[in-house]
Amino acid sequence: MKALYIKSYGGPEVMQVGELPEPQPRRREVVVAVKASSINPCDWKVRAGEMKFMTGKTFPKTLGSDFAGVVERVGAGVTGVSAGDRVYGVTPVMLRKPGAQAERLAVATNRLRRMPDGMSFDIAAALPIAGLTALNGLRQCGELQGKTVLINGATGGVGHFAVQIAKAHGATVTAVCSDRNAERARSLGADAVIDYRKQDFTLGSIRYDVVFDAHGHLKFGAVARALKDHGILVTTLPNFALIARSVWQKMFGSREIKLGNLRDHPEDYAELERLLAEGLVKPVIDKIAPLAEAVQSYKTFEAGGTVGKLVLRIA
Ligand SMILES: NC(=O)c1ccc[n+]([C@@H]2O[C@H](COP(=O)([O-])OP(=O)(O)OC[C@H]3O[C@@H](n4cnc5c(N)ncnc54)[C@H](OP(=O)(O)O)[C@@H]3O)[C@@H](O)[C@H]2O)c1
Repeated sequence: MKALYIKSYGGPEVMQVGELPEPQPRRREVVVAVKASSINPCDWKVRAGEMKFMTGKTFPKTLGSDFAGVVERVGAGVTGVSAGDRVYGVTPVMLRKPGAQAERLAVATNRLRRMPDGMSFDIAAALPIAGLTALNGLRQCGELQGKTVLINGATGGVGHFAVQIAKAHGATVTAVCSDRNAERARSLGADAVIDYRKQDFTLGSIRYDVVFDAHGHLKFGAVARALKDHGILVTTLPNFALIARSVWQKMFGSREIKLGNLRDHPEDYAELERLLAEGLVKPVIDKIAPLAEAVQSYKTFEAGGTVGKLVLRIA
C-alpha cells in the first residue's frame, strides 16, 4: 500500500511517500481503507522526534492521526462494526500505533466513530483532533452564555472550531489572529479581532472570562492580567510549569488554568456532530491535496498561515 512514512526523525526531508506492507487487523481491530486524513501539529511533532520518549525508535513509521474511510476487514473479537461501514476517528500515533496517511490503517474499534449520513470524508477527516480539543477545552469553562471569551490562534485548526463553539454557546468572542485572517475570523463569528503582530492583548485594559490559548504559547503570568477574577486560561499545549501552576491555582488562586486536551469519547463526537448538523459549526478546509503531495503539504502547514484544516486525500 502507498503511505507517508519516515525512516528517521527529522525535518520535512525525512518524509517520503512509498510502498509499505499491508496491515493485518489484530484482535478488536479493523482495517480501514483511508479516504482522507488531515494534518495536525502533533503529526509533524512526531516526525521531528519531539515525542520520541513515547513514539520510540522503530521505523518505518507512518504519519497522520485523523482519518476517515471505509472499514475493509474486521479482526477477531470485533462487534458492532462491519465491512463497508463509513468511519472516522483518531489513531494514537503517539502511542506507537500506525499512522493514518496510508491507503490502509489497522485501528482499534474504540478509536472509531461511525460517520453521520451525508458527511463527506474530507469533513470527517478535518474534525476529530481539532474539533474535539476545542470542545473539551471550552466545556471545562462551564456555562459560556453571556461570557467574554478570547481565542488566541483563532483561525487555526483548533482555534476556528473554538470560535464557533464559543459563539454557539452564547459567548462574546474576541479572536486573536494575524491581520491577513481578520475577515475570516469575523466570518466564523468573532465579535472583535486583535492582530497579534500589532497588539498584545495581555497589555490591554479589557478583561475576559475565558482565554482559550489554541496557539499554546501564552504564559499564565501574562494572561492573568487579562482575566477577570475567577477567569480561566485554557491551554492546548500544557507543559510541566503550566500543569504545576494549574494545581496551585485551583487550590489557592482566583483564576484557573484548564488543560484543553483531546477527548474522543462517544458523547464528545455526538456533541460535535450535533453542532455541525445544526449549522452552528462549519469546518473550514483551506486546502485538499493528494497523498502524493503530502511532503509539500506538511511544509505548507508548518510554515503557518493555514486557515482551518489542511486535508490529504488518500484515495
Ligand atoms: N493537547 C491536545 O490534545 C492538542 C490537540 C490539538 C492541538 N494541540 C496543540 O494546539 C496547538 C494548535 O493546534 P492547531 O491544530 O490549531 O494548529 P494550527 O492549525 O497550526 O494553528 C495555529 C494557529 O496559531 C496562530 N498563531 C501563530 N503565531 C501566533 C501568535 N504569536 N499568537 C497567536 N496566534 C498565533 C496561527 O495563525 P497564523 O497562521 O495567522 O499566524 C494559527 O492560526 C498546537 O501547538 C498543537 O500541538 C494540542
